[in-house]
Amino acid sequence: MLKEENTATHQQIKVNRAFTRQSVHYDEDDKKNLILADMRRQVREHVESFLKPDDRILELNAGTGLDAVYFAGKGHRVHATDLSDGMIEVIKRKVNDLQLYSRLTYQQCSYDQLDELNLGRFDYLFSNFGGLNCIRDLDMVTCHFPSILKKNGYATIVVMPRVSLWELLSVFKGNTRAFRRFNKNGTISHLEGEYFITYYHTLSTIIKAFGPDFQLVKVEGLSALIPPPHKAAFPQQRPGLYRFLKKLDKKVRGHFPFNRWADHIITTFQFVPQ
Ligand SMILES: C[S@@+](CC[C@H](N)C(=O)[O-])C[C@H]1O[C@@H](n2cnc3c(N)ncnc32)[C@H](O)[C@@H]1O
Repeated sequence: MLKEENTATHQQIKVNRAFTRQSVHYDEDDKKNLILADMRRQVREHVESFLKPDDRILELNAGTGLDAVYFAGKGHRVHATDLSDGMIEVIKRKVNDLQLYSRLTYQQCSYDQLDELNLGRFDYLFSNFGGLNCIRDLDMVTCHFPSILKKNGYATIVVMPRVSLWELLSVFKGNTRAFRRFNKNGTISHLEGEYFITYYHTLSTIIKAFGPDFQLVKVEGLSALIPPPHKAAFPQQRPGLYRFLKKLDKKVRGHFPFNRWADHIITTFQFVPQ
């Protein structure tokens, strides 16, 4: 167990339960979704543009370790962390099945308690696909970064911002939750029978949370023009349009407003302490 239930927050207990249930079919869902596969490819390419051979990576909210296994397979050493009992169990199984012992280690840890790791400094910090949308104050996570990241190291976080063009446009299809991301107090998410709060982070709140010792070096929209992953059937239903949107997306995702208004945004910071 991560910690006694009386010390975990109410939110974390619910998040743990929801993702533990989801861990059972997470990889299967991921494999079937072509949009998600394209998004994951984009995130990996983004990270690989900064990674150096043999870099030691700390992954936060690693889920079932899909990216951790990928980066370990590329020769990096990865320490994968997550809050959820179920997700950590899946990572453990993969490490054993794939014999990744020397490249991939894992630990159950909430990202607001990274001071408990005691593993020295990493070359790279990485958080993918909205794990950090489960916390209201990003500072509670980023406050640990200066003591666990090497000087000139990088941190990439992938989070859901407040504005998603696809979600806003869904108002014309009668989506009553099209403006949910604008609620500063977050919105209630329902996952696997649990209700918890999702908080959306703007680029400016992210920059503020990192603080002056971190320099923003790259920001890209993820699914700015291509549909979000819950539109999983879109690539099969409209293959021509999907290909066209993908091409266009690639051209614009590094530029305003598409690097801020998207389903997720990928932000990378370099640690350059003053
Ligand atoms: C949408 S999944 C993303 C998983 C993985 N990064 C991926 O790309 O597949 C979100 C993950 O965030 C984790 N998470 C949520 N709150 C967390 C916290 N406080 N500390 C660590 N992990 C957390 C969940 O357990 C879940 O595995």
